[in-house]
Amino acid sequence: MKHSHCSRLLLVCSVLVLCLVTGGARCNKLSSNFYDWTCPGVYNIVQQHVFSAMREELRMGASLLRLHFHDCFVNGCDGSILLDGADGEKFALPNMNSVRGYEVIDAIKADLENMCPGVVSCADVVALAAGYGVLFSGGPYYNVLLGRRDGLKANQSGAANGLPSPFEPISSIVKKFADVGLDTKDVVVLSGAHTIGRARCVLFSDRLASTKSSANPTLDATMAANLQKLCTGGDGNQTTALDVSSADVFDKQYYHNLLNKKGLLSSDQGLFSADEDVVASTTKALVQTYSDDGEQFFSDFGASMVKMGSIPLPAGSADEIRCNCRVPNPK
Ligand code: HEM
Repeated sequence: MKHSHCSRLLLVCSVLVLCLVTGGARCNKLSSNFYDWTCPGVYNIVQQHVFSAMREELRMGASLLRLHFHDCFVNGCDGSILLDGADGEKFALPNMNSVRGYEVIDAIKADLENMCPGVVSCADVVALAAGYGVLFSGGPYYNVLLGRRDGLKANQSGAANGLPSPFEPISSIVKKFADVGLDTKDVVVLSGAHTIGRARCVLFSDRLASTKSSANPTLDATMAANLQKLCTGGDGNQTTALDVSSADVFDKQYYHNLLNKKGLLSSDQGLFSADEDVVASTTKALVQTYSDDGEQFFSDFGASMVKMGSIPLPAGSADEIRCNCRVPNPK
């Protein structure tokens, strides 16, 4: 027992020395066994917290998945969305009063700091929590790669400008994905995340017409009437399921909805109903494929999540393992 503890310590030390010698380059590579020697309990801790958060509110799985997406799209997957402060990403338009799950991440991190202090990055906690959120919603298991480092700074304008808006045409969403190294297929596959979770009226009421004569030809009439009823007279913060057919289950139903004009956001329905051009015909064909083949969707979703989860920090940025996900470590 004593011997195995010592050899484990020796290996950890050798890894650290190797990191120093190679200038950190080797240590920035993500891997599936990154914490095997330094914090093997990380999976259990994250899994337990996500499980109990979802038992309290099933939607939390979706919220954690979106948190990871909004983290990765701004300065790479560096936990920068978690930083508090008036100039934080939290207060950028796409995130404010919208992104959820910060408290779940805090609770996970507090337990991890007790178990293996200073070892697991906040960005990795978010990535793993998203993976369990998908799995516990009935979605695919995919191998979450670990070894990210936390950024020191938030980028509010990056969040305001870089995150896609539901009001944008698909071509401009495709461009934003391309800016972080993701392609058109990733756009369609990752939009399938909208098979779970909720959206607020303010973010889809552009699709609702107030008179019959201007009814939206790409929105099912019965669904339009129901949404109209939900949203009329409120403050715009009423929510409804992104996937009208199976709100909390991670399945291929999202794509089936699009075939039937039942996408909730304009950016969802646009994947199938946008005016034909090269991008639209690509997205349309993929929607058709995934609506037919759930297995293909699940395996492509895992692959695109790994790709999204590997978006790097901007070259030369300082990084660390944050002790408290809400603030950079004291100097
Ligand atoms: C393709 C461009 C995308 C656009 C325009 C978009 C837009 C939105 C909007 C407007 C909402 C509702 C927010 C609110 O009501 O406050 C939402 C929710 C959500 N989004 Fe996206 N999204 C996109 C891609 C993605 C991706 C790539 C993922 C994850 C891989 C994702 C995961 C989610 C989830 C799970 C929710 C529900 C969150 C919850 O219920 O708390 N979205 N998205």
